[in-house]
Amino acid sequence: MNFWTKLEKPILSLAPMCGITDSAFRQICKKHGADVVYSEMASVDALYYKKSAKKTLDLVKFQKLERPYVVQLFGKDPAKFAKAVEIITQQVKPDGIDINFGCPAKKVFGHGSGASLMNDTKKANQIIKSVIQNTTLPVSIKIRSEVKGVTAVNFLNSIDHNQLSALMIHGRTYNQGFFGSIDYTIIKQVKSLLDIPVLANGGINTPEEAKLMFDKTNADGIGLARGVKGKPWLFSQIKDFLVRDKYNEKNFKQIKKIILEHAKLSQKEKGEHGIVELRKHLTWYIKGFEGAKELRQELVRVNSIMDITKILSMY
Ligand SMILES: Cc1cc2nc3c(=O)[nH]c(=O)nc-3n(C[C@H](O)[C@H](O)[C@H](O)COP(=O)(O)O)c2cc1C
Repeated sequence: MNFWTKLEKPILSLAPMCGITDSAFRQICKKHGADVVYSEMASVDALYYKKSAKKTLDLVKFQKLERPYVVQLFGKDPAKFAKAVEIITQQVKPDGIDINFGCPAKKVFGHGSGASLMNDTKKANQIIKSVIQNTTLPVSIKIRSEVKGVTAVNFLNSIDHNQLSALMIHGRTYNQGFFGSIDYTIIKQVKSLLDIPVLANGGINTPEEAKLMFDKTNADGIGLARGVKGKPWLFSQIKDFLVRDKYNEKNFKQIKKIILEHAKLSQKEKGEHGIVELRKHLTWYIKGFEGAKELRQELVRVNSIMDITKILSMY
């Protein structure tokens, strides 16, 4: 079943972020209004080889309440994509598969994967074909506004996008990386070119910026990334703002409750190490608080839920 066709618009999605969008965080985002959540990107090379597959399968495992849940894959070899997608479909059983055509990181781009594939449409096409042929799940792609002279529109005009189920576009070029202005025009052009849900991504940190994105692009949905770091309730704030033109801020007591809930989920999913991985989230949750600097110094050393509870109760 193609879940993308069943989603009510506007679609608010949690964009993929490696090192951040793990199962615990996705569960928290889902609880606070995300309509669809993406995994951290997973390597098809790692899934291809038995030795490394287990670690990657662990990275993309999920809980039912995260559904609809999309696993994002990156790589450059169509044959490895075929095998990886088969493994994910049969063993992980998410609701969708996404292909990364947008990552500019040196290790990924230099390897011929991620955003560099927007410059190699022949290979990109083979990858899309290979993924679609080896899964029953809906397949989506994530692209950038432009990579070294090839715009998102050029790219889409030179690949076969007819069997894709959705697309997320980050409105920044490869050269811009993760900073600078968003190209609303190209997102709007992509939206009018396709009949599938188009999710606009980049620079959405407030409900006002979400509304601006919708107004300027006519997109079917949005992808939230850094804007939800320490603020998973941004999803519900955006929903409120789009419907009622206003939204509420969370107070410290409410944030504390969310932190503890996140901590419990992290521990449940990853054991003690989950709390160590949570430390960065803790520093994001308290950003802007009075005395955040001192609090931060304590929170980056926590090893247990008890440590977190103690520190927050003293605050
Ligand atoms: C720490 C970090 C990790 C990311 N990991 C991925 C990833 O695994 N796959 C992907 O397609 N994009 C990844 N991105 C890009 C985001 O999905 C998003 O496109 C980008 O951050 C722009 O959105 P923003 O301005 O709202 O942050 C990552 C971004 C950040 C900051």
